[in-house]
Order: sequence, then structure tokens, then C-alpha cells
Amino acid sequence: MSGDLVNNVNNVSLDENHVLKNRKDEDHVDPWNVVSSSDTGVDYDKLILRFGSSKIDDELLARFEKVIGQPVHHLLRRGFFFSHRDLHSILTRYEQGKPFYLYTGRGPSSSSMHVGHLIPFSLCKWLQDVFNCPLVIQLTDDEKTLWKDLTVEESYKMGLENAKDIIACGFDVNKTFIFSDFTYIGQRPEFYRNMIRIQKCVTFNQVKGIFGFDDSTVIGKIAFPAVQATPVLSTSFPDIFGVKKIPCLIPCAIDQDPYFRMTRDVCPRIGFDKPALLHCKFFPALQGAKTKMSASEANSTIYMSDTPKQLKNKINKHAFSGGQTTVEEHRKLGGNCDLDISYQYLRFFMEDDNELEEIKRKYSSGELLTGELKKILIDTLTPVLTRHQEIRAKITDEILQNFMTPRKLC
Ligand code: TYM
Ligand code: TRP
Repeated sequence: MSGDLVNNVNNVSLDENHVLKNRKDEDHVDPWNVVSSSDTGVDYDKLILRFGSSKIDDELLARFEKVIGQPVHHLLRRGFFFSHRDLHSILTRYEQGKPFYLYTGRGPSSSSMHVGHLIPFSLCKWLQDVFNCPLVIQLTDDEKTLWKDLTVEESYKMGLENAKDIIACGFDVNKTFIFSDFTYIGQRPEFYRNMIRIQKCVTFNQVKGIFGFDDSTVIGKIAFPAVQATPVLSTSFPDIFGVKKIPCLIPCAIDQDPYFRMTRDVCPRIGFDKPALLHCKFFPALQGAKTKMSASEANSTIYMSDTPKQLKNKINKHAFSGGQTTVEEHRKLGGNCDLDISYQYLRFFMEDDNELEEIKRKYSSGELLTGELKKILIDTLTPVLTRHQEIRAKITDEILQNFMTPRKLC
């Protein structure tokens, strides 16, 4: 086994039910759950060490800007994308004019996506514009049927709804292929053949170690990691790449890394390059940074489909405040931006660094009250949601079909 797999297995322990658990003082991060041991959220530096990935530092960002000849996206600049694997080799390929593609995905567990999902998809959109390269987006409706209380039909339908949210992020139909596992795997035997090539390389013991499966796990789950790994092999998309072997770059939140540690271990054994990765942090739940925003927890979540009124109510009612309990105390002591969810959300959505800095100064000094900070967040997010909803409403079934038809890109 290569380092990618060993790194994970060595740092977790199995409890008496053989469920994978991190040590008590550590944050728990897997593809289905994120629970931090601290109020300020996951310790991302520790996670880099535990997962064996690399930090995105100033030097890498400087090289990125030099290679593309423009400033990097604010999600990179502010450190929301904080970790990577092999990004240097993708930049080198770009310098040399060699092809690569982008791959990301979504597990349709709710009919609307939430604002946290905008993070990987916004970066993907930016990367697609900057690199002018193809992008494949996997809708893992099969995964959500296996893991959630959803029928095949329900997950498939939610996948189509989610695809509209994804298209509304602005992807170029000439460079983007969105596919549902339930549909595409039956359309192209090349995909299924690659899936089996991957399945042949991974033992039950290995996925037990990586994902915490046990003897009572349904077999669909045990085999699923190979489904998420398969889009890493370019030959799974004969319409786009023919038989060419081209490497990919995967933007995703760090919770998806276990799938790709497994994939990176397998790739060289079946004659493919390892995928490169860009990892983002989690957009926190409204109740605080201890958990991530999750589509299946309605109260912790701002959906892209929320009305201005719902948005306002959710923020006013649920957004955890780092302010003091009384106005007098707040004026005297000031608020804690590290704990304050409204401030944390503004860091994602307010692009102007100076304005954000000013808000931090005022809130920390007590000049700005929690209610006022919440209002700034509401005023910032409302137009983001309204615009998204307007664009989404114009996406017809025909447009959706265009994105989801296997075809040559560009
Ligand atoms: P899913 O649907 O849970 O999430 C889709 C993408 O959004 C990221 N994400 C978040 N990012 C920031 N803050 C959050 N609170 C948050 N919640 C989710 C996820 O990491 C992911 O990038 N199994 C996958 C689907 C998938 C996939 C992929 C994802 C298939 N192939 C390739 C990334 C790359 C899933 O259920 O994602
Ligand atoms: N269509 C792309 C262009 O004209 C070229 C292209 C085709 C490509 N297949 C690719 C680029 C795969 C990267 C990866 O610019």
C-alpha cells in the first residue's frame, strides 16, 4: 500500500463495534459527518497532517498567479481552499500546454443545494474559465439511495433538481458534462469497465480502514467508493476524451478526501496518473462551527431555494452569535469574530477585503452590535440567493438535457 492509504489507517482507531473513530481530542471528518472538538471548528492544520495532504501556502499561490497571469479567486486568497495534492503538477501541465480536466460532484440528498455547496462549485467555475478546460460533474444518486432513506426514483429526481442549481453557477455548456450515475453508467460500458478495474484493486479490509465499513454494511456501500473513483480515469468518458489518458484536478471539501486517497493508491497500478486535489474548508452550520452545513439538517442550513423571508428568519433566529449577552457588555467587551457565524459567513460572501476588515474591527470593538452584523449578512446574501433563483428558473429541461447528454466537449 502506498502512503496515501497508510496515513489514514494509522491515525484512527476502531471502537468495539469496529466503527472508525478518531481519537477523542480530534475532529471527526468523513464523507458523511463532520464534528469538531472545538467551538471555532475543525483544526485544519492538524487535518493536513492526519490526511497527509499539503498546505496551500503563499509560495504556491504566488506560483499559481504567475502561471495564470491574474490574481487567484478570493476563496484561494482567503485560505478557504487550504490544502492540496499535486497541484504543482497541474500548473506545470498548464504551463506546458498539456491537457487536463476538472472533476467534481454532488450527492443529491435534498432537492435544493445549500450555500456551502457554492464553495466547491464557484471555484470550479472560476477554474474552468481560467484554464479553459473540460469539467465533469458526477451526481451520485446511487450513493444517496444507499446511505439515506431515499428510493432510487427519489434520488434520481433530486439529482436532476441539483443539476439545475449547478448549472445556475454559470458553467459553460460547451465545456461541462453533468451526469447521473443511474443513467450514465448504463450508457457507456467504458465507465463500468473502469469501475471493475478499480474494484479489482481494493480489498474489503482497505475500505473498512478508510470508511469504517463493517460486516453488517450493505454491499452496495462497500462497492460504492469505486463509483466515485471512476471519473478520475479519463477513458470513462469516451465521448470527451476518446481513449486518451489525461489527468484531472478535483476541487472538493476535505470530507471527500478519503475517496480520493483510495483512488490515488489505485491509479498507478492500472496505468493512470493520480488525480490532483484542491480541498476546501467547511461552510459551518448556522448553530456554530462545530459541524458543517448539511443539506439534510434543515435548521442548520440556508438552502439556495430559501425566500428572503426564510433567509432573514434563519439568520436572526439560528445564526450563532459571538456577541455579548447585553448591549452594555457588548459595547464594553466587543464581539468574537472567530465564533460569530454571521461574520464567518461574510468571509465567504463579501469579496471586498477592506469592507470585511472594517466590519471585523467594528464588531470586535463593540461598535457594531450582533443585530447590525446579522443585517449586513442578510443584505449580502439576499441578492446572492435571489439572483441564483432567477437564473435557475430559466433553466429548461432542454438546457438540462444538453448538459447531461454524453457528447464531445469544446
Ligand atoms: P455532497 O453532495 O455531500 O457535497 C458536494 C460538494 O460540496 C462539498 N460540501 C461542502 N463544502 C463546504 N461546506 C460545506 N458545508 C459542504 N458540504 C458539502 C463536498 O465536499 C463536495 O465537494 N460523494 C459526494 C459526491 C461526489 C463528489 C465527487 C464530490 C461524487 N464525486 C467528486 C467531490 C468530488 C457527495 O455526496 O458530495
Ligand atoms: N476542447 C478543448 C479546446 O478546444 C481541447 C480539449 C479537448 C481538451 N479535450 C480536452 C483540453 C481534454 C483538456 C482536456 O480548448
